[in-house]
Amino acid sequence: MLEIDIIAVVPGLLEGPFSHSILQRAAEKNLIRVRVIDLRQYGTGSYKQIDDYAFGGGAGMVLMAPPLADAIRDLQKENTYDEIIYLTPDGKTLNQSMANHLSLKSKLLLICGHYKGIDERIRERFVTMEISIGDYVLSGGELAAAVLVDAIGRLIPGVLNDETSALMDSFQDNLLAPPVYTRPSEWEGMKVPDVLLSGHDAKIEEWRYQQSLDRTQARRPDLLKDEDSA
Ligand code: ADE
Repeated sequence: MLEIDIIAVVPGLLEGPFSHSILQRAAEKNLIRVRVIDLRQYGTGSYKQIDDYAFGGGAGMVLMAPPLADAIRDLQKENTYDEIIYLTPDGKTLNQSMANHLSLKSKLLLICGHYKGIDERIRERFVTMEISIGDYVLSGGELAAAVLVDAIGRLIPGVLNDETSALMDSFQDNLLAPPVYTRPSEWEGMKVPDVLLSGHDAKIEEWRYQQSLDRTQARRPDLLKDEDSA
């Protein structure tokens, strides 16, 4: 069982992704448990303040250290986390090998930033990993957390119906997936490649592998050079 706790500023953003499809089934099968913690409950004062102006000036608010620290420490009373992950555009860009690695852990804590980010001291004191889901800026870390949980969750054995399929995906082995087809075998004059209808398993395998290589060479030659990206 993989347990993931997520400290969020806008918990509602995470309701949809986790109450549908694959992750929902994984939760029902007790393969994964995701809990969303509303940072606001740790806010200070009667307004439950969680953010404040940045020292030194400039536009945008910063999530304050005390509410975040209280939330993290509260969770740590009952949980020992393998990693405390801050979702941030200046983190390491998520790739398949990071998802593989994280899917083998048993407890993760994800922290979602907002506005201008979180007080740097929280990163220094608690955070063990910083992950970005790509070189663009989202309005908050929640959607990034949803992406990360999906990428990790589907790798847990039993989560996908087809046990082998997660390992055959694009990016495993640094290769993009080959093209796929389903019925009808001819559609609007376009035919499925003969080899796929041949029933010859070894030839099909060889064709798929070659297609994967060609596709990767054409679209993502960087993956073939980069040992570390899958
Ligand atoms: N928060 C805002 N933008 C993000 C990104 N690209 N990745 C992860 N967290 C983020």
